[in-house]
Amino acid sequence: MSPVTRMYGVVAMVTALIASNAIAADDKEIIDYREHIMKTLNEQSAALGMMLSMAVPDDNAIAHMEAIALAAKMAPKAFEPKVQGGQSKPEVWTNWDDFSKRMDDFAKKTDEMVRVAKTKGAATAMGNIIEYLPCKSCHDVYRDESKK
Ligand code: HEC
Repeated sequence: MSPVTRMYGVVAMVTALIASNAIAADDKEIIDYREHIMKTLNEQSAALGMMLSMAVPDDNAIAHMEAIALAAKMAPKAFEPKVQGGQSKPEVWTNWDDFSKRMDDFAKKTDEMVRVAKTKGAATAMGNIIEYLPCKSCHDVYRDESKK
């Protein structure tokens, strides 16, 4: 093998390595993105929970509800790329119709929560919080917490 041929071989190998790394990084970022949105939902729900248990004043309650409603609207887009991994079960994509319907319902329910809070008061909306936040019912089917 001439040195030039050998060099071409090395270049091809390095190029292939870089390309496969780039694909892996893309997938990781897609997973990171949906997890960032889920974590946002988690932090905002935790803040509301502190107000529910009266650990902190509830002056910001409606703002936290609005943050949840906004993040709920961002979530479906983050799951559109069919990238398996993270804590998502494969069913997210094999049962996409059901999964995306649940995401739609989630967005509608959180909008309703904000509407009730603004018209009838944060305390009234807080009284129904479990109904407005179907986090667990979706996780029971589509999230595998043992995956991390
Ligand atoms: C329609 C389905 C659905 C709804 C509704 C939903 N989630 Fe999730 N959640 C998921 C899926 C799927 C994952 C796994 C994402 C991944 O890692 O790929 C997840 C992951 C998470 C994680 C783990 C993120 C991480 O990587 O650390 C948290 C925390 C979380 N959700 C909180 C919430 C909270 C709080 C709510 C409600 C306010 C909520 N989720 C509503 C489907 C849902």
